[in-house]
Amino acid sequence: MKKLLTLILVTWTSLCISTTVFADTAKGQGIYMNFCAPCHDSGIAGAPKIGDKAAWQERIGKGTTTMVDNAVNGFKGNSGFMPAKGGHKALTVEEVSSAVMYMLELSK
Ligand code: HEC
Repeated sequence: MKKLLTLILVTWTSLCISTTVFADTAKGQGIYMNFCAPCHDSGIAGAPKIGDKAAWQERIGKGTTTMVDNAVNGFKGNSGFMPAKGGHKALTVEEVSSAVMYMLELSK
């Protein structure tokens, strides 16, 4: 019994530590509409527009994990400044990640 508990604990801990990319696009759409669309719908301040395949192509090459990281922690690139979590600190990593997945789904 103790062994089982240890196993569960170890598995749980390692799941929490590894960088997770969440792919709940339905949830992502809601987050996107509320927190990301103000910039990414119209391309304000150099933001890559959602659905603009050319604008996303080069970024997608970096890999999903890097892009999620940049969206969560903030990112200064060649075209502008992406605020950490879109400027909404209360968002969880999971929420930001699902919004990124939603954006990529429509932009690749
Ligand atoms: C205040 C405007 C603004 C808001 C709000 C915003 N972004 Fe951005 N975002 C930007 C800009 C500008 C860039 C481009 C930065 C660059 O490449 O120079 C960017 C880039 C990105 C990238 C590409 C990162 C990369 O590695 O190339 C992702 C992914 C992203 N945003 C996700 C999001 C998500 C998810 C949200 C909502 C939670 C969000 N953004 C909200 C302005 C914004």
